[in-house]
Amino acid sequence: MAEELIVNSTASKVEKYKLLIPQIKALVSSESDLIANLSNIAAALKQGMGFFWVGFYIVKNDELVLGPFQGPIACTRIQKGKGVCGTTWEQKETIIVENVDEFPNHIACSSDSKSEIVLPAFKVNEVALILDVDSDKLSDFDEIDQKYLEKLMKIIEGML
Ligand code: SME
Repeated sequence: MAEELIVNSTASKVEKYKLLIPQIKALVSSESDLIANLSNIAAALKQGMGFFWVGFYIVKNDELVLGPFQGPIACTRIQKGKGVCGTTWEQKETIIVENVDEFPNHIACSSDSKSEIVLPAFKVNEVALILDVDSDKLSDFDEIDQKYLEKLMKIIEGML
């Protein structure tokens, strides 16, 4: 696919996701390389949703290692149970953090990050990677983000 992503920056969050998810599905359908696809997904989420930071951490040898992302530089390795990402990995479920300063274990990669949503993707019942989205606004993520980003994680699981 070489055509440009269609984006409507004035649409509601639901409308943005509804426009974006089918495009992401089409984008990854013709490519089998995981890193190439995760790279384009990170870019599409940044461009389509206007997120502050969006990226993947991949489970490698009992650590999360930074994968494709868009936004400011980030920490490269996260241990299980550490930070929002390591806690999502340990608990095997989506975590929404309304105020990162109130999350006991939060790892601050950027002082501009104020709220966060982290979702796991599974391969044979084990977490294989996580998606981390950060906002520079407090309480920026809700059940709408969870619903549509969990749909995206299912698309990603199909590539694992
Ligand atoms: N805040 C995350 C670390 C990753 S960065 O935000 C990109 C955490 O607490 O796990």
